[in-house]
Amino acid sequence: MKPVKVGVLGLGTVGGGTVNVLKRNAAEIARRAGREIIITRASARDLNRDRICDTQGISLTTDPFEIINDPEIDIVLELIGGTTLAKTLVLKAIAQGKHVVTANKALIALHGNEVFAQASAKGVMIAFEAAVAGGIPIIKAIREGLSGNQIQWLAGIINGTGNFILTEMRDKGRDFADVLAEAQALGYAEADPTFDVEGIDAGHKLTILASIAFGIPLQFDKVYTEGITQITRADVEYAEALGYRIKHLGIARKTAEGIELRVHPTLIPHRRLIANVDGVMNAVLVKGDAVGPTLYYGAGAGAEPTASSVVADVIDVVRAMTGDPENRVPHLAFQADSLADIPILAPEQFRTAYYLRLHAEDKPGVLADVTRILASHQISIEAIIQKEPPAGKSSVPIIMLTQNTLEHELNAAITEIEKLVTVTGKVNRIRLETLG
Ligand code: NDP
Ligand code: HSE
Repeated sequence: MKPVKVGVLGLGTVGGGTVNVLKRNAAEIARRAGREIIITRASARDLNRDRICDTQGISLTTDPFEIINDPEIDIVLELIGGTTLAKTLVLKAIAQGKHVVTANKALIALHGNEVFAQASAKGVMIAFEAAVAGGIPIIKAIREGLSGNQIQWLAGIINGTGNFILTEMRDKGRDFADVLAEAQALGYAEADPTFDVEGIDAGHKLTILASIAFGIPLQFDKVYTEGITQITRADVEYAEALGYRIKHLGIARKTAEGIELRVHPTLIPHRRLIANVDGVMNAVLVKGDAVGPTLYYGAGAGAEPTASSVVADVIDVVRAMTGDPENRVPHLAFQADSLADIPILAPEQFRTAYYLRLHAEDKPGVLADVTRILASHQISIEAIIQKEPPAGKSSVPIIMLTQNTLEHELNAAITEIEKLVTVTGKVNRIRLETLG
């Protein structure tokens, strides 16, 4: 069979890694795919820039549309990022009848419903394994490996940059800004790193995971997102003392009322495997009704781990190219006409446990006032620690863990606690999941 010709849009971290892996492993890849796969064309903004890959034998251009319009190209790899140019390029590639592989979670989370509809109408494939959790084949695992299950919930560390920052801060006492700069230099961070640290990137990925887990349309606008910038060293230390680690999790859970979609810092018991996933590594815990809990672990960002997913998608596309387009694995795991309209819950309807930290005057009755308010909102306390007042201060830090409660009850309780004259400042709260 004649070789499959690939055009690569973007030669940065992921594009460069992909060129390297496709070239280095070309012989093995051809044995797996059943035919040779060659990169004939690639684009980047600046052709004079030093690259992590060898572009010998590849025709380079600064104009990605030249590649889209090249009738010789069978598969386009969109590795530029963003949702403007990338969307135009992907829709144009589909219109030209080309298959697309992308690592772009923002594009899929925000425009995937439209992109997949157009791709299906044209009979082409859009593959996006690299869009979630870098090198972990989590899309394939949920979409194919767990397809006999009803997925009940999933929870994952799905941003490598954020986990790298939290780990370095906790283990080495490093500064937030300093670690973020290193993550950028290593190629882990998004073009706009606020996407990493404010939970937007994890929100994009959770949107995708929830769709393929529950058979719902992609709806990023309904994901609750909270970043890691508010986590203090004190909270990390108190959490450790109570037997917990703070991780930035994306959680999708199906309840009787609807689906919770949330990204936020979370206390997890330190004995859980996922609590010990450090650095740029990611992990996703998926609970199916038949299989029970399953855990997927690996590098969440970086050139070759991400390329591993991109190349696997290219091979999948090549294998399926000659098959019946009506019988491919659906883009979002469920048949496009069978997606369900399940409500996505508002944050006030979330049910979870909490870590609370507040500062109160060190005198009798203060703790009783706080616990009375919590009880009046049906919030039970699981654990409580009162620390010594810091030198020269009369207020003491009080740390509490609650049992599961509705978020709107907790919000109301916090408002009342903050009004107590004996309590100073804001009540700091972090959600807690046992993931049992
Ligand atoms: P980079 O910034 O490293 O690379 C982007 C590439 O696109 C560069 O080669 C750049 O050219 C080119 N490019 C950027 N803007 C334009 C433009 N306007 N016109 C033409 N070419 C352009 O990004 P990454 O490789 O890190 O990310 C690419 C995609 O992969 C993103 O969607 C990202 O979210 C996703 N991703 C990234 C991961 C990672 O670990 N970095 C992991 C998983 C997914 P030039 O080099 O000349 O500037
Ligand atoms: N910026 C992303 C991260 C890249 O750090 O996880 C991988 O999607």
